[in-house]
Amino acid sequence: MLPVLTEAAQHFVGAVTFSALASEPVASSLWQASDPIPHTRLGQRADAVLVCPATADLLARYAHGLADDLLAATLLATRAPVVVAPAMHAEMLEHPAVVANLALLASRGVGVVPAGTGRLAGGDVGSGRLAEPADIVAAVAGLFHPRDLAGKRVVVSAGGTREPLDPVRFLGNRSSGRQGHALAEAAAARGAAVTLVTSSSLPPPPGIDAVVRFTTTAELEAALLETVVDADVVVMAAAVADFRPRTVAAEKLHRADGLVSLELEPTPDILAALAGKRRAGQLFVGFAAETAAAVARAQEKLAAKGVDLVVANDVTEEGAGFEVETNHVVIVSRAGVVAEVGPAPKRVVADAVLDVISAHLAT
Ligand code: CTP
Repeated sequence: MLPVLTEAAQHFVGAVTFSALASEPVASSLWQASDPIPHTRLGQRADAVLVCPATADLLARYAHGLADDLLAATLLATRAPVVVAPAMHAEMLEHPAVVANLALLASRGVGVVPAGTGRLAGGDVGSGRLAEPADIVAAVAGLFHPRDLAGKRVVVSAGGTREPLDPVRFLGNRSSGRQGHALAEAAAARGAAVTLVTSSSLPPPPGIDAVVRFTTTAELEAALLETVVDADVVVMAAAVADFRPRTVAAEKLHRADGLVSLELEPTPDILAALAGKRRAGQLFVGFAAETAAAVARAQEKLAAKGVDLVVANDVTEEGAGFEVETNHVVIVSRAGVVAEVGPAPKRVVADAVLDVISAHLAT
């Protein structure tokens, strides 16, 4: 990272602080740098340029080709992709001059991370607030991703189901939703329109089109029946209960009432039902959380559920499965084992699964 701190920005952040946080020397002037031609060197060496925050003044100078400070000159001298994250007061953001400058920059291929709404400097509230850091990082990261899922609709289910026993208790499982959320995030970064159907308490990742919440298997089934209709790809990463209480007690069950026996009934196999009604061209991906013989069981599930791919993991293995940041999976198709990934961060596993999905869509 090559940080540039303009003179105006130094009213807000000192150069020493910025340099220490970036662990890099900070450049701020066309004239003081040790490099004799910093305005071209910085732009030439960059893989991407992020202007964060982008003021109304900078947007105007950039849109009109001025090169009157190191940042503006660097922006003119780079061929790397540029992303701007505007931040200013609502009146300025909505001014026709700023609107026109942003439109002009966007028409030239500059990425614009839309400003959010909320508290602004000086206690004002409104539009113009700098976008959330995760959205800005995602916009820059998106420049380096293949856009192989552009134009595709992807539905991802994530998290575990909870089946109530009474108003305060439920039968659940240990799924955190991390792998499903990573898949949704990765699919969005690769250009897909993503609907995330989730029970996870994790925040929805950036770039998602729609988020649908569920708690029970019945709610998950209803949400999927609605969203899967126009999907190209369905990734069923949710950990679904296989059994649920036949009846739910209207009142809390009390210890004093003695030993309670639970009568359970099987839940419908949502994935098998959806895959059984598939439209031509739809791709279905299941998960198999196993405690032994993961590949063999994955192959059985692939056939039994009529899906195209099964992502299998042994949840007893350290660094894989529930409640951890990493996973170790084997991806199985009708032809056999397609790939083994990990142990690796769940986002890396997500991209590997999407590589296989993308290859399947292309055939
Ligand atoms: N699944 C589903 N509906 C269910 C149970 C599972 O849609 N009622 C989906 C899961 O989301 C997963 C795949 O089916 O994508 C495999 O889930 P898993 O629990 O491993 O398999 P089961 O079919 O439940 O078989 P078993 O628990 O006996 O291994």
